[in-house]
Amino acid sequence: MLRARVIGTGAYVPENILTNHDLEKMVDTSDEWITERTGIKERRIAGEKQAASDLAYEASKAALKSAGLKAKDIELIIVASVSGDMPLPATACILQDKLDTKKSAAFDVNAACSGFIYGLSVANAYIQSGTYRRILMVGTEVLTKFTDWEDRTTCVLFGDGAGAVVLEATEEDRGIVSTKIHSDGGMWDLLHTPGGGSRNPASKETVKKRLHFIKMKGNETFKVAVRALESLVVETLKENRLKTSDIALLVPHQANLRIIQATAKRLGLPMEKVMINLDRYGNTSAASIPIALDEAVKTGKIRNDDYILLEAFGGGLTWASALIKW
Ligand code: ACO
Repeated sequence: MLRARVIGTGAYVPENILTNHDLEKMVDTSDEWITERTGIKERRIAGEKQAASDLAYEASKAALKSAGLKAKDIELIIVASVSGDMPLPATACILQDKLDTKKSAAFDVNAACSGFIYGLSVANAYIQSGTYRRILMVGTEVLTKFTDWEDRTTCVLFGDGAGAVVLEATEEDRGIVSTKIHSDGGMWDLLHTPGGGSRNPASKETVKKRLHFIKMKGNETFKVAVRALESLVVETLKENRLKTSDIALLVPHQANLRIIQATAKRLGLPMEKVMINLDRYGNTSAASIPIALDEAVKTGKIRNDDYILLEAFGGGLTWASALIKW
């Protein structure tokens, strides 16, 4: 039986840092409120000329290097993002051009903050079926260019960054053990960007009404997220006949420390076994899990044979998990 094994990880975040104290000068907020309600202290902001594919390129180069491979060795590139370079074409194709390879297929996945795990589930299926042997899976976001800097309820949350993994087919008893993806389109309006699509094409009016910025009903999203993530991780463990104590590290989507703590508490998982870096990067949507995973690998938090659980919740609404035996 073929399995998809992670053989390389990489990440990139822009240099420019925006702290909570900087935000205090922009909107009616405080470092205290942001820290208490979200756990975020600072976030990275892409440069004026940096787009999602530029960040993805840096993360992909790092992932390929750590896998000891070249771009031409990759057969499929998947990019998860809700802040791609442009509506057309796929950011994955622009990334492919930057990586200077024509040897792969390339497409995007849009599942907001769950996008990276949705992409992993697709990559896993291709590898298990024997269709592709090596896949580059990237999460990249420049959310701050879709952030309304006059809306204190959202502008304190988001940051920019990219993370990538290289997956390879293996016959060993390791790699992605299971993926679970869920969605409830009935709640799409809890988190959305109304303008710029075919519903509200770009016009002077859409710009004036600030429809090109991300809108979120944070409190309602929060409540659904806690419930959905709890049943998701319980379901994932049960189906794989594992106990909470079998999990060496939980790598959650980095949206809100309180959501992460609530999930860990309900699972009975100590916080030492939970990867946290949202204090430094904020919510980077589809990029948050691969950035956190790369940091966990580089700081020695993951060892061979460890069970690693990834979980995410985001716009759509979508939620997803991936269990990996490292
Ligand atoms: N500074 C100070 N006060 C604020 C701020 C701010 N930045 N933002 C909101 N407030 C105020 C509100 O106006 C409200 O005031 P009121 O009581 O006078 O009306 C009060 O603080 C409480 O607001 P809530 O929205 O109830 O605050 P909450 O505790 O829910 O925290 C937050 C808000 C952080 C957004 C939280 O709800 C959250 O994290 N939600 C989930 C986000 C998420 O997981 N999204 C999915 C992933 S993102 C993606 O897919 C792209």
